[in-house]
Amino acid sequence: MERKAMYSAVQPSGNLTIGNYTGAIRNWVRMQNDFDCFYAIANMHAITVRQDPAELRRRTLELAALYIACGLDPEKCTLYVQSHVPAHAELAWVLNTFTYVGEMERMTQFKDKSQKHADNINMGLMDYPVLMAADILLYQADLVPVGVDQKQHVEITRDIANRFNNLYGETFRVPEPYILKEGAKIMSLQDPLKKMSKSDENPNASVALADDRDTVIRKFKRAVTDSDNEICVSDEKPGITNLLNIYAAFRGCTVAEAEKEFAGKGYGEFKLAVGETVADVLAPVQQKQKQLLAEKDYLAGVLKAGAERAFKAARKTLSKVYRKIGFYQGE
Ligand code: TYM
Repeated sequence: MERKAMYSAVQPSGNLTIGNYTGAIRNWVRMQNDFDCFYAIANMHAITVRQDPAELRRRTLELAALYIACGLDPEKCTLYVQSHVPAHAELAWVLNTFTYVGEMERMTQFKDKSQKHADNINMGLMDYPVLMAADILLYQADLVPVGVDQKQHVEITRDIANRFNNLYGETFRVPEPYILKEGAKIMSLQDPLKKMSKSDENPNASVALADDRDTVIRKFKRAVTDSDNEICVSDEKPGITNLLNIYAAFRGCTVAEAEKEFAGKGYGEFKLAVGETVADVLAPVQQKQKQLLAEKDYLAGVLKAGAERAFKAARKTLSKVYRKIGFYQGE
């Protein structure tokens, strides 16, 4: 039986947070044995916001090392850099002609980012979901493991795929978002009504995957909570709810189990436990990442092999699309 395909990516921009880990990478690792997995470093998406070139190059390699340090095995899944496979840009162009300006203007992330980067609302920023649709559809992905914030982009990918399939016959597999409950939406530690984001200006709002133990523990100690002292999930307690979610995601238990563990305990003890649990998971990842970054040739080799595999799979879909829409491809 054919194995199901899985596709996802992270942008090599800013300092990755624990949200990127629990919402995405951690879940990818779990699936690499059972699916055909393609995981990209989305540097073409990253340039929709201005990047420093040297930093972008450095972060690309750091992200490759992080993927492996988190447990992705380059023998089992295809790890590659998006810009190494030209089919992404090629399919995005075609899909642009099946996507409406109005749809893109309505995307939540576009609206947010347009506000944040009002001096640079470029076409790429608006077209971002189409490039993402191209990423996913090229690999005929069945599932797309992402955090909650990317769900809308997977939904528009489904719309575009269905639109194309209806016109030209079955061409793309229509993907489903794959979102786990624990850790799919980690909120800011300073404003728990806002998503934790790598672009947050307040360094205490997010925990970076690169933060050392003391920093992690200090940030959790300072996390905004509320004035009573009950540790339970509640709409009125977004700060505590967020910390319970983080704890559960890092501990590998359910939120209900976490609630039970801390019933009757004080906030101080709870926050320390969350900080220590997160730091314990991050330490070996950081160590492995550092070790891998010292082996530049190995990383370059992994990315080259990954790009070759991705190129082949992507080319197959692109060629099918070109045939369907009437692009002459020689005899
Ligand atoms: P990016 O780089 O913003 O984030 C990478 C992944 O991390 C998840 N995430 C979170 N999950 C839980 N809580 C949070 N606070 C949090 N913040 C981020 C995101 O949902 C995402 O899964 N457009 C994508 C990258 C991309 C992609 C793709 C994803 C490009 N092509 C194709 C899937 C399929 C992005 O900007 O993710």
